Amino acid sequence: MPSEVLSQLSILVLHGPNLNLLGRREPEIYGSVTLDDINLLITLEAKNLQAKVELLQSNHEGVLVEAIHQALGEHQGILINAGAYTHTSVAIRDALSAVKIPTVEVHLSNIYQRENFRHHSYIAPVAVGQISGFGAESYRLGLLALVNYLRK
Ligand code: DQA
Repeated sequence: MPSEVLSQLSILVLHGPNLNLLGRREPEIYGSVTLDDINLLITLEAKNLQAKVELLQSNHEGVLVEAIHQALGEHQGILINAGAYTHTSVAIRDALSAVKIPTVEVHLSNIYQRENFRHHSYIAPVAVGQISGFGAESYRLGLLALVNYLRK
């Protein structure tokens, strides 16, 4: 595929609540990696894949919902770690369902090895797929999977 076609893909990356505290937050679960480290990893992988990324972290459900709405016509894919909203937010799920932008859900920790309340994701049924448990690598794998999905 010519590189000018490849470069057109744009991915919105959404980080949900408390992920701004990575590095300080429960390092025994999330490790020492910071959100800046993760964003750098995503940016480098996007460059490798000749895709564009826009990165946003918010602790507010409505901000995430509005970012999903605004992705319409702007981004071809969404990579999301909704944090705790994964397990609670019908609003984020409905927004993803409404815009119908292919979405990959990622988690640093393996949510199925943790408390029962983390085993259910409202997002998974409206996502192309989910990657969980590989630390920061979940984002890289998620971006790769999403870009491959969009290009196939
Ligand atoms: C998380 C898992 C969620 O259960 C939790 O609320 C988070 C982080 C993860 O990346 O492992 O905030 O999404």
